Amino acid sequence: MFGAAPAPTAAPPTENPDAAEAGSGRVNRPLAPRRGRSAAGAGWAPVEAAARLPVYQAATSEVGGLFPLLAANGVPAVGARMGYDTLSGGAFYCHPIEWLLRGLATNPNLVIFGEPGRGKSSTVVAFCLRMMLFGITTLISGDVKGEYTPLLRALGVTPIALGRGSPARLNALDLGPLASRWNGWSLTRQREELTGVLGRWTKLLAALAETQGYAPTVTDEAVLAAVLRRLVGAGDGYTALTPVTIPDVARELADPAEDLWREARFAGRREFLDHTRQITDALSNLVLGPLAGLFDEPTNFTLDFDAPVQSMDLSLLRSRGDQAIAVALTCLGSWSSLITDLQDDGEIRIVVRDEVWRQMRLGLRAVQAVDSDLRLSRAERKIQLLVMHKPSDLLSVGAAGSQEVAIAKDLLALCSTRILLGQSTRVADELATDLALSEREQDVTTGWAMERRGRALWKIESSPGYKVQTVLSPTELAIFDTNAQLRARTGPAT
Ligand SMILES: Nc1ncnc2c1ncn2[C@@H]1O[C@H](COP(=O)(O)OP(=O)(O)O)[C@@H](O)[C@H]1O
Ligand SMILES: [Mg+2]
Repeated sequence: MFGAAPAPTAAPPTENPDAAEAGSGRVNRPLAPRRGRSAAGAGWAPVEAAARLPVYQAATSEVGGLFPLLAANGVPAVGARMGYDTLSGGAFYCHPIEWLLRGLATNPNLVIFGEPGRGKSSTVVAFCLRMMLFGITTLISGDVKGEYTPLLRALGVTPIALGRGSPARLNALDLGPLASRWNGWSLTRQREELTGVLGRWTKLLAALAETQGYAPTVTDEAVLAAVLRRLVGAGDGYTALTPVTIPDVARELADPAEDLWREARFAGRREFLDHTRQITDALSNLVLGPLAGLFDEPTNFTLDFDAPVQSMDLSLLRSRGDQAIAVALTCLGSWSSLITDLQDDGEIRIVVRDEVWRQMRLGLRAVQAVDSDLRLSRAERKIQLLVMHKPSDLLSVGAAGSQEVAIAKDLLALCSTRILLGQSTRVADELATDLALSEREQDVTTGWAMERRGRALWKIESSPGYKVQTVLSPTELAIFDTNAQLRARTGPAT
């Protein structure tokens, strides 16, 4: 950066022979003659430091130590400039895809840990905003607190709010871009895509049934797949697809056509009904429960894919309880991965899952869904970004020793980059064990990182960890002030 544009005044005095030589077409022309300018206080300087940079002066008795040979960290200067590396003072950049391509990381996923209020969401916002410069778009897959809404508004995007008082409806079994693309595809492509979508839907319905306290069997899943295939009406491969909703599925299960129970190899209608009673009831309850109307009617908005960031604001749902939020996150997760998959515009997307543990508490299938998204991120050109308080959030997804917990713990291994903001000592012990931190790194998260907001230890794979201070611009601070509501309530004093 120094001396990037040599000022005309910096032209070396012509009487100096060294400088005259250097002037002939060299790009990195020195701004000062070899022996410095012969003026009082000028001395030797490769750049016009005094004119461009602040100069600090101190006596050697005051400067504890000076080490001029600091090397920058090995992280390439590409992507989002997050702030500075406090050890070298150099800028710190983050571009998970570049890191992957250059062999620093094995996957593009990130996980952020930190106590509430330490700056997790702000770091996410800074990262997404700065990656936008490279044409990378962001999807906030379920914003439970509505924190990202001001960011969207600042960018001129209207977020989609789901919940009390909002007219927006999202069909959990929405066809997304499939419906409009369908006719342009060859028969083979249609079959392939449809199989993919039906697979997703079956998994989603099974996960939703699990939230109602019933773990579906393989037979249930086979029946669900058959019902969905019939309802969507693409058995012949020629006609257009029919939109399907969860009540349609529940209705078909409660009143099966003869060829359905025959196809599913039941001896008769009665046997079919007896066998599928629980899954039918689970789906029907879902439609009647606190989420009634939200995910079981046709989708009534279109998502603008050219927007730099999109978000589903779930803050209006909070009054309906944790379970409702978790169900909503599951529906959104399934829906957003379906549409982003089909949106084959070749673009890289960041998918933010703030408070991901809420969704994973729903059960094994919800945990598996997150797991498979993380595994596919490389193939699907996505950067999955998980936000958590502490690793034990992952343990809270199920009973000790259960399969859920085993998968959830493995999620950490699927995120090459771990950003560790400040933590209290107790949690830090746990982090140190789960992420194999050295004692020094652990001290960094409990000490140094706690001293200022936005300080974090960035670990890329098993790198030693970079001590980075994220710097927010005044605009970013203003649009992402999560304490604004508290401040407003304390009166006009501030
Ligand atoms: N790097 C930073 N510099 C200055 N203020 C910050 C920084 N990071 C976060 N903050 C402020 O701290 C508050 C809490 O941050 P937030 O990102 O919501 O924390 P978390 O998501 O961890 O709960 C916000 O008001 C934000 O403006
Ligand atoms: Mg937050």
